[in-house]
Amino acid sequence: MILKDNYGRQVTNLRISLTPKCNLNCIYCHAEGEVAPKSLMSVEDIGEIMRVAKLFEMRSIKLTGGEPLMRTDLVDIVSLVPEGMEVSMTTNGTILERVAQDLKDAGLSRVNISLDSLQHDRYKEVAGKDCLSDVLAGIDAAIAAGLTPVKLNVVLMEGINNDEIPDFIEFAAKREHIILQFIELMDEFRSCPYHMELTGLEDELQRTAKTVVTRRMHHRKKYCLEGAEIEIVRPMHNTEFCAFCNRLRVTSDGALKPCLMRNDNHVDIRGLRGAELEDAFREAVSIREPYYH
Ligand code: 5AD
Repeated sequence: MILKDNYGRQVTNLRISLTPKCNLNCIYCHAEGEVAPKSLMSVEDIGEIMRVAKLFEMRSIKLTGGEPLMRTDLVDIVSLVPEGMEVSMTTNGTILERVAQDLKDAGLSRVNISLDSLQHDRYKEVAGKDCLSDVLAGIDAAIAAGLTPVKLNVVLMEGINNDEIPDFIEFAAKREHIILQFIELMDEFRSCPYHMELTGLEDELQRTAKTVVTRRMHHRKKYCLEGAEIEIVRPMHNTEFCAFCNRLRVTSDGALKPCLMRNDNHVDIRGLRGAELEDAFREAVSIREPYYH
C-alpha cells in the first residue's frame, strides 16, 4: 500500500544519496541537505531499501550525491532497482561519458545533468574547476545511450550566467531529447549578490512561448520556445513546494530523511532488513510535515 503522511501527501518518490563526495565544489551547492556522513551504505543496503520502496508502491527512485559517479559500484546499484520502478540520476556529468551506456544497460532511465555555464571561465567560477568539455561529452553520451530526456539543470545567477539564457535555449534546441530546467536558488541564498528571482523570466516565457503546460506539481511549468523545451523550477517560491512534496530521502550513511530542510528528524536505517525496515519507512513518513507554510 502507498504510504501517506498526516497531511494527506502520498510518498511516491525516493531520493537516495549514494555519497557526499563530489569532484566539483559549486558555490551554491545544498549537498542534498547532508551532514558529514559516518559510513556509506553498501550495495546490499541500498538494494534492500529499494525493494521496500517498491513494496510501498513508490514509483520512482532518484540517485543523487554528492556525485553518484564517485561510487565505483554505481552500475551494480542501478541493476538492483526493482522491475517497474523508474530510476533516474542527478549528476554533474563530468565522468559520465565512459559509463553512460553501461548505466543504461543496467536499467537507468534518464539523467539530470548540472550545467551552469557554456563558457569555460564561468564554469570554473561556479564549479571550482573547468570541466565543461567533459560535461558536454557526458551530455552527448547520455543522449546517445538513450538516458533521455536529458534534463539540463541550470541554476540561474545574476551577474554570473543570466546573460546566457539565449545560449542555453539554442544549445537545447540544437539537440534532441533535452529538457532545459532553469532553477532559482534556494531561499538560503537570498542575501547573495547573485541570487535572482525567476519571476521576470517566467513572465516572459508565459508571453512568448508557443505552448505552456502546467503540471501536477504547480511550481513547474513547461514552455516550448524556439524548438527548446523549458521548465522553470522555483522550489521555494510558493507553498506548493511542500504541498506537492511526494519525496522521501535517504542519506548516504543510511538514514531516512523526511524533509530536505531538516537534519533533526532522521530515522536511522543502517543494517535494517525486512519488517524492521518497513516499520522505519512508516515512521519516517508519519513524522513528515510541511516546512514552508
Ligand atoms: N538552489 C537550487 N538548486 C540547487 N541545487 C543544488 N544546490 C542548489 C541550491 N542551493 C540543484 C541544482 C544542481 C543539482 C545538483 O541540485 O539543480 O544542478
